[in-house]
Amino acid sequence: MPSSINRPRGTIDVLPGEVEKWQYVEESFRRICREYGYAEIRTPVFEYTELFDRGVGETTDIIEKEMYTFLDRSERSLSLRPEGTAPIARAYVEDKLFSGPQPVKVYYQGPMFRYDRPQAGRYRQFHQLGIEVFGAFSPAIDAEVIAMSMDFCRRFGLKLDLHINSVGCGVCRPVMREKLYAGLRTRLEDLCEDCRLRLERNPLRILDCKEKRCRGMAEEAAAGLNFLCPECGDHFEKVRNYLDVLDVKYIVDHCLVRGLDYYTRTAFEIMAPGIGAQRSVGGGGRYDGLVEMFGGPPTPGIGYAMGLERLLLVMQEQGLPVPCSGRLDVYIVTAEAELEGKALRLLQELRGNGMHADKDYAGRSMKAQLKQAGKSGAPFVVILGSDELRRGKVALKDMLSGSQTEVPLADLVATVTGEIDTHFTKVRRFKG
Ligand code: HAM
Repeated sequence: MPSSINRPRGTIDVLPGEVEKWQYVEESFRRICREYGYAEIRTPVFEYTELFDRGVGETTDIIEKEMYTFLDRSERSLSLRPEGTAPIARAYVEDKLFSGPQPVKVYYQGPMFRYDRPQAGRYRQFHQLGIEVFGAFSPAIDAEVIAMSMDFCRRFGLKLDLHINSVGCGVCRPVMREKLYAGLRTRLEDLCEDCRLRLERNPLRILDCKEKRCRGMAEEAAAGLNFLCPECGDHFEKVRNYLDVLDVKYIVDHCLVRGLDYYTRTAFEIMAPGIGAQRSVGGGGRYDGLVEMFGGPPTPGIGYAMGLERLLLVMQEQGLPVPCSGRLDVYIVTAEAELEGKALRLLQELRGNGMHADKDYAGRSMKAQLKQAGKSGAPFVVILGSDELRRGKVALKDMLSGSQTEVPLADLVATVTGEIDTHFTKVRRFKG
C-alpha cells in the first residue's frame, strides 16, 4: 500500500464544522468594511521577490528568515506573499489608482505565508483580514482605522488591549536609532547573535527581537527619549485626541516598532492576554513612504491586518461563541422507500426557495434517517408518509423543541420559511 501523504508542517485543513466559523468571521469583516466605505481588492498570492525586499525591509525577520522564495521556469525570483500591504501599494502604483478620487480605501482577506517555527497561533500559511487607505494625511484617518479594528473585535465581544506608538519619520527616527546604538554598543556580548548584527544594520529591530532579554535591553536604552520632531509629535497627539473622542482606550507603548520597516508615525498593535508568545491579534500603522518607494507619487498610507486564526483562537480562549448557522435548514425523511421520488421533488422545491435542504441517500430505515437528521444539525425535519400524503399533509418536526405538527403539503415551503426565520432570529446572538 502506498504511504499516506500529510499536509505541509505549519498548515491546517479547515474542515466542515470549523469552516462555518471562518465564514462567519470573514462575512462580518466584509460587512464592517462596507460600513466604513472600503472596497475589496485581490492581488496575487505570489509577487516578484524584490517587492518585499524593498517594501518590508531587507533587515526584517520576515525577509531574512521567513519568505517562501523560489525561481520560476524563467529564473525570476518569486515569493509567496508574507503580507498584503506591499502588494497593494504595488497595485496602487501599477494600476494607477492614484489618478482616481482619493483617498482609496480597500480591504482584503486571504492566505499569507511565513516560514517560522509553527506553534499555537503561528502557522506557515495563515490568513489575514486587512484594510489599506491611500491618500489621507489627517490624523483623523489614523484614529478611524484604529477605531475600526477595535470595533470589529468588540462586535465579537473580544477583550483586547490596544497599544499605540509613533515611530516618527525619516527626519526624527535617526535620533532614536542613534540613542539605541549608543546605549547597546557597550553591551554587545549580552545581545543575541541576530541582534549584534541588527545593532549595526537596523538597531530599531532589536525592540522587536523574539528574545525577551534583547528587547528589555533595547527598552532600557530607549527609555525616556522623546525623539519625535514637532510635526510627528503633533500628529501623534491628534491621533490620541481623536481616539479619546471616539472613546477608544489605548496604552501608549514607546517601544512598539512592529516587525516591518515601512512604518512611519502611527504604529499600533492589538494584543490578547494569554495566548503565549502569539499575543498579537492584529496590527498596523502609517506608511507614508511606501508608494513612492514603488515608483508612485508621494502618497500617505495607513492600514492594519488581523490574523484570522488568532482571532478564532482568542474567541475560543475567551469563551465567546462564534454564532454560525448550521449547514442545513431542513432534512427530509421518508417513511417508505417508494416516496424517494417525492422527497427528491420536494428537496428541489425547498432549495429553489433558498433553503438549505438535504436527505439520506443510503437507503436507511426511517429510524436511521431520523438519526442522520439529528446529526446533520438541521433545525427542522420533514417526514413524508403515504398516509399523510394521501390527506395532502406532511409532518414537520422542530428538532429543538421535539414538537411535531402536520402541515398541508401545499403550505410546506411557506411554513418552513417562516419557522426558519423565527428559529434563526432566536438562535442568532449577533445580527447576522
Ligand atoms: P503583521 O503584524 O506582520 O502585520 O501581521 C498582522 C497579523 O497577522 C498579526 O497580528 C497576526 O495576528 C497575524 N500573523 C502574522 N504572522 C502569523 C503567523 N505566522 N501565523 C498566524 N498569524 C500570523 C502585517 O502583516 C502588516 N501588513 C499589517 C498592516 C497592514 N500594516 C499596515 N497595513
